[in-house]
Amino acid sequence: MYLITAKKKINTEVEAVTIQAPYVARNCQAGQFIILRVDENDARIPLTIADFDREAQTITIIYQIVGSSTQLLSEKTRGDLLADVVGPLGQPVNIGNPRKILGIGGGVGIAALFPQIKKYAADGASVDAILGARSKDFVILTAEIEAFSENVYYNTDDGSLGGKGYVTDTLRALGKAVHNYDHIIAIGPLPMMKAVVAMVKPYGIPVSVSLNTLMIDGTGMCGSCRVTIGGEMKFACVDGPDFDGYLVDFGECMNRHEMYSEEEHQCRIGLRGHHND
Ligand code: NAD
Ligand code: FES
Repeated sequence: MYLITAKKKINTEVEAVTIQAPYVARNCQAGQFIILRVDENDARIPLTIADFDREAQTITIIYQIVGSSTQLLSEKTRGDLLADVVGPLGQPVNIGNPRKILGIGGGVGIAALFPQIKKYAADGASVDAILGARSKDFVILTAEIEAFSENVYYNTDDGSLGGKGYVTDTLRALGKAVHNYDHIIAIGPLPMMKAVVAMVKPYGIPVSVSLNTLMIDGTGMCGSCRVTIGGEMKFACVDGPDFDGYLVDFGECMNRHEMYSEEEHQCRIGLRGHHND
């Protein structure tokens, strides 16, 4: 069993939970994730490790309440126990030693971008970031990312923070200035990552993206996280979750991502109904 040592509500849909998980905290690296189960009979939830503290032996995960399992997790609080925390899973990020990087984060994807920004800043890279979300309250980890970045640009769909529009509007405005960067890391909704890749392609700057696929076992056995990268079948859980954006078949990813969204929604409505009984 794994103790929740802290819990924080970030906005109406997103929460952060800190969990005592000594093995994961000692061994994890930026880009890796865990799979947790709230209760023994509950579904597995794959979540990027947003932060870790090796001394305190804790990890922090940030999640959006999107389905029945994250709804159950949301009902837990400090002092409660979680049934399982398995990890660290997936490949640590590895883009060499970039001199200057641009991180682009959309919505709750910013939580997965943060550990990469922190790592490359600690390795000596100069970091700029473009962060965007629906509105001000949904742009998360602003202070944390500013602490590791030289420049942070904001976009919101409604204009409540930074420029009105998508993160890609700021990227477009950079134009040829993208040549200042050795590498771009884009993490957020699939249409955002696809759009970033398409915009940067003419400039030939390497872009990595993180694929937040459906996952069950997290060990390469079940095939649920199957993706096509450069025409080859890969598993996001063992080969990723980060991949070269130019090689990702985004169309296939989007189709597979949509496959169970209606079931998740129905499950969540059912769970709410049950709690209101
Ligand atoms: P959202 O749909 O509110 O979008 C957030 C921001 O992304 C927007 O404000 C905009 O700036 C940008 N964006 C969205 N669609 C775009 C498009 N077509 N073109 C250009 N920019 C676009 O985000 P949300 O509701 O917070 O959802 C977050 C998404 O991030 C989920 O789809 C989730 O699956 C994904 N996610 C990914 C990871 C990962 O590791 N890859 C981790 C967590 C979440
Ligand atoms: Fe089962 Fe990746 S989650 S193969």
